[in-house]
Amino acid sequence: MVLGGISLYGQENVNRKIEALMGKMTLEEKIGQLTLFTSGWDQTGPTLHDGYKEDVKSGRCGNLFNAHTAAYNRELQRIAIEETRLGIPLLFGYDVIHGYKTIFPIPLAEACSWDMALAEKSAHLAAKEAAAGGLHWTFNPMVDIARDPRWGRIAEGTGEDTWLGSQIAVAKVKGYQGNDLSDPTTLLACVKHFAAYGAPQAGRDYHTVDMSERVLREVYLPPYKAAIDAGVGTVMTSFNELDGVPATGNDFLMEQILRKEWGFEGFVVTDYTSINEMVPHGFSKDEKQAGEQALNAGVDMDMQGAVYQSHLAQLVKENKVKITDIDQAVFRILKMKYALGLFDDPYRYSNEEREKNTLFSKEMMDHAREAGRKSIVLLKNESIEGRPLLPLAKSIQKIALIGPLADNQEDLLGTWHAAGDASKVVTLKQALTDALPNATITYSQGCSTETDNRDGFGPAMDAAKAADVVIMAIGENYRQSGEAASRSELGLPGAQQALLEAIYQTGKPVIVVLMAGRPLTISWMHDHVPAIVNTWHLGTMAGPAIADVLTGAYNPSGKLVITFPRNVGQIPIYYNMKNTGRPFDAKNKYTSKYLDVDNTPLYPFGYGLSYTRFKYSNLKLSKSTIGFNEDLKVTITISNDGEYTGEETAQLYIRDLVGSVTRPVKELKAFQKVVLQPGESKTISFYLRSDDLRFYTRSMEYKAEAGDFKVFVGGDSADVLEADFELK
Ligand code: NOJ
Repeated sequence: MVLGGISLYGQENVNRKIEALMGKMTLEEKIGQLTLFTSGWDQTGPTLHDGYKEDVKSGRCGNLFNAHTAAYNRELQRIAIEETRLGIPLLFGYDVIHGYKTIFPIPLAEACSWDMALAEKSAHLAAKEAAAGGLHWTFNPMVDIARDPRWGRIAEGTGEDTWLGSQIAVAKVKGYQGNDLSDPTTLLACVKHFAAYGAPQAGRDYHTVDMSERVLREVYLPPYKAAIDAGVGTVMTSFNELDGVPATGNDFLMEQILRKEWGFEGFVVTDYTSINEMVPHGFSKDEKQAGEQALNAGVDMDMQGAVYQSHLAQLVKENKVKITDIDQAVFRILKMKYALGLFDDPYRYSNEEREKNTLFSKEMMDHAREAGRKSIVLLKNESIEGRPLLPLAKSIQKIALIGPLADNQEDLLGTWHAAGDASKVVTLKQALTDALPNATITYSQGCSTETDNRDGFGPAMDAAKAADVVIMAIGENYRQSGEAASRSELGLPGAQQALLEAIYQTGKPVIVVLMAGRPLTISWMHDHVPAIVNTWHLGTMAGPAIADVLTGAYNPSGKLVITFPRNVGQIPIYYNMKNTGRPFDAKNKYTSKYLDVDNTPLYPFGYGLSYTRFKYSNLKLSKSTIGFNEDLKVTITISNDGEYTGEETAQLYIRDLVGSVTRPVKELKAFQKVVLQPGESKTISFYLRSDDLRFYTRSMEYKAEAGDFKVFVGGDSADVLEADFELK
């Protein structure tokens, strides 16, 4: 890819300039370029490093994060340019995860749109806003596959599926970086957390990861690889160990896979103090040794740990690290600064006029609303008195709006909301009041998301009793998912379950608007409440996006990218499991099942309702046998049998029936979105090739094996039509 008008990897002219600059640098200044400190503005980890400005001045710190706004970063940049010996520009990074100031849906939510253009646009707009706020670099996309919703960071990724996660990784890299990194409306992206951070034991953040190399390569690595193939400039290591070796000291991951096999030529940054953490991991005897191991394993930049700053020079003297390896890391980082155009104009991202015109612009707010409504997943919508409860009937006059998230601003922003401004969030109460001027909306908080206090139950029940319908906005607050927010129980936190049951007892029809950063265990809700709208955390325009769905201004189209378990004991539960030697058989005790819960999830991967009804028919394959490199055409007809125009996401899965190693019962391989008017039918086609059927065989070759396959097409991973073919 072209970064900054220069080809990133190998433009002679730029290489010569960098070499000339490096010729003037002392070892200490070189190590400064390998050092990244947080500013005092924000803290996204356990430590703060005092005196970062002094370090910038002395050339001992060449990069900062958690510093933003055009004016503040201009001043810091001025120090680097005017007050350091060589005037090398600073690189400014920040966790722009789902928006900078205008916040879009959390990544898990947005993935439920299955809309790659939307995902790319969110990244592009986030970059445009952040770059106007003085930033150069985002620590995103986070592409960790996660199958355990106890892990709070599941909110930050794209769910359980490797193939879908890889498509989204590409969309995000394109959206952030654009075609030219020197364009001051783009950001340098950083794919993270390398690798397999999304599989901590028991879902506890930072915990041990241990898996076979086959699972690593097949399930966890492809999204990182997809981001690298799409040209991502940087990679962040992860906190976890893998097979006994912390990722930050893992030469198998960084040298063998990332650089040798995948040809990555950008730079690798650690996660926050993860070099230092190799000491408590029990991999390094002290920080000095940790620094040696990190550099030798392929880490270029030390985030926040100050280990390189404190120990690298001495390690060079002792011949424990090679100066040529340090030079290579410096080269990679300076090259990125060139690509960003910082050597031409170090202040190009600090333009206050542009900042003023970009933040919270109409373009941002409109997109936040559009992305919000496309992320919503309708889980249940039963009929009451002969009519589905949603969309709200025009005849409804009195609505009781209940719950701690109904008139809440900050929690709707969700985890990692960067510099998101809670005061700009349009709440559900506000949005419903605007959307339904003729209805009376009585709001009652009822309880909080954290405590067991039930003092608010009485007024909430009074409001419910006086209403035609109750809308309950309940779920998790923004601190209950994200980093360091693992949970062992996945029910509604605080007194919300009790509140829900009390309101249900009033006998009024209840619609739950469920806001959370992960799938919650909502079996009781599913069994009792007629309508459930899963909205996740949708960001700045959450209220209007939800109101659009409740009123029917938008017909919900989201499909789950993560399985909803019936209870915590089923975890991990995901659609592409293996069959086992004793697959479930209700009549046979000695088969793979639980005594106390079904094997099936509450809602499967790919699931999501619409206000209309889609019917699948006529699944046809062009051939019953295909050769290697031959196309198989799969066609299916989808009809809209309901009363509303709607958008459906048709999903195609395969199963390889017999392999040299066992294969999952289903694997997503394609999807297509279709918009259908009431009564309309469309026949759509998918093309499968033998390349789509590849996996890591017994001998760890990545290839397809001849044999029998099933192909499934449907509206979710459980409700499908199926056909057979053979690869010969
Ligand atoms: C720790 C998190 O794991 C990482 O995702 C984030 O980018 C850094 N802190 C910086 O805030």
